[in-house]
Amino acid sequence: MPPSDTMIPEAELTVVRKPLPHDSAPRHVTGSAAYIDDIREMAGTLHLAPGYAPIAAGRIIDLDLAAVRAAPGVVAVLTAEDIPGANDISPKLIGDDPALATGEIRFHGQVVFVVVAETRDQARRAAKKAKFKTEATAPVIDVDQASDTVLPDYAFTRGDPDAAVAGAPVSFSDTFRIGGQEHFYLEGQISMAIPGEAGEMLVYASTQHPSEVQHLVSHALHIPSSAVTVEIRRMGGGFGGKESQASQWAVLAALAAWKTGQPCKMRLDREDDMIMTGKRHDFRVDYSVGHDENGLLKGVDVALHARCGHSEDLSMGVVDRTMFHADNSYFYPECRVLTRRHRTNTVSNTAFRGFGGPQGMVFAERMMDQIAYRLGKDPLDVRKANFYAPGRDLTPFGQQVTDNLLHELVGELEVKSDYRARRAEISAWNAESRILKRGLALTPVKFGISFTLMPLNQAGALVHLYRDGSLHLNHGGTEMGQGLFLKVAQVVAEEFGVDIGKVAITATRTDKVPNTSPTAASTGTDLNAMAALNACGQIKDRLYAFIEEKWQVRRNQVKFREGQVFLGNRAMPLAELVNAAYMERVQLSAAGFYKTPKIAWNRDKAEGRPFFYFAYGASCSEVTIDTMTGEMKVDRVDVLHDVGKSINPAIDIGQIEGGFVQGMGWLTTEELVWDAQGRLRTHAPSTYKIPAASDIPEHFRVELYESDGAREKTIYRSKAVGEPPLMLPISVWCAIANAVAAVRPGGVPKLDAPATPEAIMKAVRAMLAGD
Ligand code: MTE
Ligand code: MOS
Repeated sequence: MPPSDTMIPEAELTVVRKPLPHDSAPRHVTGSAAYIDDIREMAGTLHLAPGYAPIAAGRIIDLDLAAVRAAPGVVAVLTAEDIPGANDISPKLIGDDPALATGEIRFHGQVVFVVVAETRDQARRAAKKAKFKTEATAPVIDVDQASDTVLPDYAFTRGDPDAAVAGAPVSFSDTFRIGGQEHFYLEGQISMAIPGEAGEMLVYASTQHPSEVQHLVSHALHIPSSAVTVEIRRMGGGFGGKESQASQWAVLAALAAWKTGQPCKMRLDREDDMIMTGKRHDFRVDYSVGHDENGLLKGVDVALHARCGHSEDLSMGVVDRTMFHADNSYFYPECRVLTRRHRTNTVSNTAFRGFGGPQGMVFAERMMDQIAYRLGKDPLDVRKANFYAPGRDLTPFGQQVTDNLLHELVGELEVKSDYRARRAEISAWNAESRILKRGLALTPVKFGISFTLMPLNQAGALVHLYRDGSLHLNHGGTEMGQGLFLKVAQVVAEEFGVDIGKVAITATRTDKVPNTSPTAASTGTDLNAMAALNACGQIKDRLYAFIEEKWQVRRNQVKFREGQVFLGNRAMPLAELVNAAYMERVQLSAAGFYKTPKIAWNRDKAEGRPFFYFAYGASCSEVTIDTMTGEMKVDRVDVLHDVGKSINPAIDIGQIEGGFVQGMGWLTTEELVWDAQGRLRTHAPSTYKIPAASDIPEHFRVELYESDGAREKTIYRSKAVGEPPLMLPISVWCAIANAVAAVRPGGVPKLDAPATPEAIMKAVRAMLAGD
């Protein structure tokens, strides 16, 4: 790295590592944090509502919109024919996902037209008046029915897995299901477009990927990217659901603004949002495994069947990440990890925290459990026996695990959570308790950090230093509640030795930092803080040169601290230095850039080192189930999680707690149900149960794992934290299976995810029946 990217020595840090509260925390809790719907509307702002397909598969024979057009307040009704450019909202312009459907219908809820009216209420009422004449065909709903795919099959293969499974001392086959998940961001999908004087378009979009929204709007309107500016100050949650799927609403709002010449806003109603936007991929997993008498793996052969929905969307990267994490923390000596990406007549599934990785890991943990129960061993012992270790450190995709923390971290949690004593106590308790059964499980997480699509591993930042010593910070990352803006600001404040309040955190805009990657794959801080550091370094280099010329003090004698600049034995306020530099015409603004080093991935050859490093964690969960009703309660959770050396421990712990609870919801209460006609039946909080405050375990202890930090040179040796914690609550799911196992000692529990009361009852019944 050039000298401008050197970080401040550990002993001198004053802002980095501080548990500062989220920069918007007071505004979040007082309701003054402005989301897109809070931006004051200009006079003449119009509102959009979607009109969508009443069938899941087939054709539109006729669409009569006369009553819609005649409805009160309606200004325009737009269909695909009104789009001047490309009718496509697919990521990377794949071309298989229209903004407005024409003729062919591919899922129930596909948007066919939009109503533009004076009020949102008028637009919604009018949309209901459309008369569809359709020719329905039988929809393909789930992977069992599917015959077509959105992408070719893809596999990682090592050795001869068939022979390894067949030749192992013990082998078996198993199949189970993993459910999907609705993002349930508190702020739903929304966008507002404001036309400019010469055909430009300013788009406020609640998106994790402003640059892609910019591209798609420019393609739809057939205008250059330079004519489109996308801005986002903050999202009320994204969780992956606004990585690709925020684009459609932005494109439609921009289209309406283009057509009417007036500002246009599209905000989806919660039910429409749930019906029309993609979710976490659900899977059927079929596998065969061979191992020895101690549970040590010999061969693994797994086929992971993903429901992708009607189009490709992000299914390439998402399902690839399922493969990258189908080993979780375990060495598979010989293996085949195959994925099939099924096309179905359902909404196109997309990114969701963990990006397919969680589903791969659930498979690995299910397999560990099955081996342990069949051998009559404690599942933790089987897990530990199979951990990556020296000489057994090659992943199925050929990357060597060089920063392995599994043994130390899991060992520490095993002691801290008192696992062995509690195991004995729970076994004795279960022997006496007929109806209620308790379960305990300790599971690890190993999560690869970097985008597996290599070009995305880059970022830009823009830093201005003003004459009063205050700073303006901008970068390509987006804020969705995760604390990215604050962490990057901490790095900038540290560079200039100023209080965090001196750094103005500003909205993400495509005209300030161009060609950005989505804020995703947990890389936000890793990439953008490095780019900001680079920008600060450039400005400081110019100041060092100025100081040397003016005062003959070398850069190693200069320190920026406590709002002052110390040069040799002289000190002055930062503002004084900056002003002096300005008078000598020194440039005080810089665009920074960063690209992740040391990574490479060739997908065709399945070769390379896709991840810069791995983040680790482990959790130990205890649950009680009622075998008569299927009710479940999480009694205790202990977490130990590796964030390297934290830039902000308060934010990181918040991410771990939030990720844990969100993952626990996915694996226990959140269940998506489509009927045979392809209609989503769980499209509101009344039928779709996300965790509430009361679901948080009473004993919920989260600790950061102490270490010297990331081995690779990451920003201040920190590690990404956004997604890895979502996979910690796999221990809750395994603990439920453990409680089910107590129903018939020696039995092997068969539990699907999510472990809803119904699923628990089913597993209990199967145990009692001796299946
Ligand atoms: N935390 C909050 N509060 N809200 C969110 O939407 N999204 C998660 C995670 N944590 C999310 C969140 C997802 S899916 C990702 S990829 C990361 O944050 C993205 O931000 P980061 O890269 O800055 O960690
Ligand atoms: Mo996160 S699923 O990578 O947006």
